[in-house]
Amino acid sequence: MSLVTTTDMFKKAYAGGYAIGAFNVNNMEIIQGIVEAAKEEKAPLILQVSSGARKYANPLYLRKLVEAAIEDSGLPICLHLDHGDTFDLCKDCVENGFTSVMIDASHHSFAENIKITRNVVDYAHDHGVVVEAELGRLAGIEDAVNVSEADSSYTNPDQVQEFVSKTNVDSLAIAIGTSHGAFKFKGEPKLRFDILEEVEKLLPGFPIVLHGASSVPQQLVEMINRYGGNMPGARGVPEEMLRRAATMAVCKINIDSDLRMAVTGTVRKYFNDNPSHFDPRQYLGPARAAIKEIVRHKIVNVLGCNGKA
Ligand code: G3H
Ligand code: 13P
Ligand code: ZN
Repeated sequence: MSLVTTTDMFKKAYAGGYAIGAFNVNNMEIIQGIVEAAKEEKAPLILQVSSGARKYANPLYLRKLVEAAIEDSGLPICLHLDHGDTFDLCKDCVENGFTSVMIDASHHSFAENIKITRNVVDYAHDHGVVVEAELGRLAGIEDAVNVSEADSSYTNPDQVQEFVSKTNVDSLAIAIGTSHGAFKFKGEPKLRFDILEEVEKLLPGFPIVLHGASSVPQQLVEMINRYGGNMPGARGVPEEMLRRAATMAVCKINIDSDLRMAVTGTVRKYFNDNPSHFDPRQYLGPARAAIKEIVRHKIVNVLGCNGKA
């Protein structure tokens, strides 16, 4: 099995009312933890690399690790560029074996976003690679307290048909109230399911992507804080909301912060319990196991993609 695109994954996920997990990867232990869980749960997988991850790990190393993961697991795995911000970055990933790229031109004007996205789509499709774009901007924590300002960063359903038809993009990330990081809501978590429903009606059968979808489990916040961390007020997207989105048009759910927190909580606890240890395998091993458990939980209880590989 070689790397796959998301085309088949998304078709099945849409029809089956589940979503594929897109997990950010930065090193070997993260990749192994995710892939071990997916292998045991027979789940299709998207492993995504940000430009920060490229700088940290060198994309060549990450691609070779992902190739090893495919050989080891036999799973359908897509290697995806997360938040590509220029045509040149997307082109570089297409040329270097990625099977999916995101062009995130959501901070540009609508017309400019279409133009930039269309360029990437034309190039990527010529090379058998699929493209995700973003329309609307993820609400930040500050916006959440001001409804009218927050509204302005939500995706405008009136624009989605024109955007998809003019760009020919393969999937679309929309902003319905999630945000990146571990501090997503000041008050009650709220997602604009009305926008998702509207988009689903306007684009029947078209795969939608949800970024900023970490749930920020309270037990991880508590573990980090108990062992010297400081994350008061961290709050994520409730899992039942993500489950609901997964039964709708959302076919890809992006999770990074929860994995970061699992690693950090585990390592903090490890050093608290074993202050004299210094072999990295002694703490990276438990961190990898913690990633595996949280990814398994997401696959089975949130995404519903277990047994779908
Ligand atoms: O959406 C961003 C991802 O969580 C990746 O974060 O740019 O720090 O690697 P990063
Ligand atoms: P979280 O920060 O909620 O994990 O979101 C990750 C993401 O959207 C990556 O693109
Ligand atoms: Zn994102």
